Amino acid sequence: MAGNGEAAAGRHQEVGHKSLLQSDALYQYILETSVYPREPEAMKELREITANHPWNIMTTSADEGQFLNMLLKLINAKNTMEIGVYTGYSLLATALALPRDGKILAMDINRENYELGLPVIEKAGVAHKIQFKEGPALPALDQMIEEGNRHGTFDFIFVDADKDNYLNYHKRLIDLVKVGGVIGYDNTLWNGSVVAPPDAPLRKYVRYYRDFVLEFNKALASDRRVEICQLPVGDGITLCRRVC
Ligand SMILES: C[S@@+](CC[C@H](N)C(=O)[O-])C[C@H]1O[C@@H](n2cnc3c(N)ncnc32)[C@H](O)[C@@H]1O
Repeated sequence: MAGNGEAAAGRHQEVGHKSLLQSDALYQYILETSVYPREPEAMKELREITANHPWNIMTTSADEGQFLNMLLKLINAKNTMEIGVYTGYSLLATALALPRDGKILAMDINRENYELGLPVIEKAGVAHKIQFKEGPALPALDQMIEEGNRHGTFDFIFVDADKDNYLNYHKRLIDLVKVGGVIGYDNTLWNGSVVAPPDAPLRKYVRYYRDFVLEFNKALASDRRVEICQLPVGDGITLCRRVC
């Protein structure tokens, strides 16, 4: 997000914009050329419903939805987990990518928003793949670990909830994802704020979570249990492939 003069003029000024690309025009080009024309009808419908919701800034962007859908197919994912569902855009991208007998354990503290998107998911014929669990994810993960029958069983886990808990999630998820499986952590570039100078005028919530994101990114870089790849898709997504 750093920049000056002419170079900065075309860049996103708006906090919460879902792309970190250099210009709105470039991002719009990607959406209009490669994303929207190939977006499944159900995802379009869910995206449009979500656009009218007051917290729509939280939704996964269409280009990231397309990326997740492709990634899941590439790794032949079948057994997956999602932490942070909101109205279900990334959940639907996942559900559409999985085989008929694929599974998603989807967790969120808010059932109401999930239920807003649920009719679209049902209409798309993929609701049977989803087990929605209402409540905070961390204790649910602890319970799963304690029960002991889901160690190393998940092919893919997408984390898109409380950023101040990412390190706590990672400590648990590394146990639940299989060796060779992938954990995707969303928002790891946190609105570009990871490179903002200390006195930058950041929104309160951006500033609050920034330190957690910075600490998390550092920790992943030195975690030898995973190979990592941080991509500037959406608000930044870091893929971690468990290697041991
Ligand atoms: C950024 S949104 C998720 C967006 C979603 N992936 C999508 O595609 O629209 C974050 C979600 O995390 C949920 N959340 C916040 N704290 C949580 C927690 N401790 N456990 C589970 N979910 C939580 C919020 O209710 C919210 O719906």
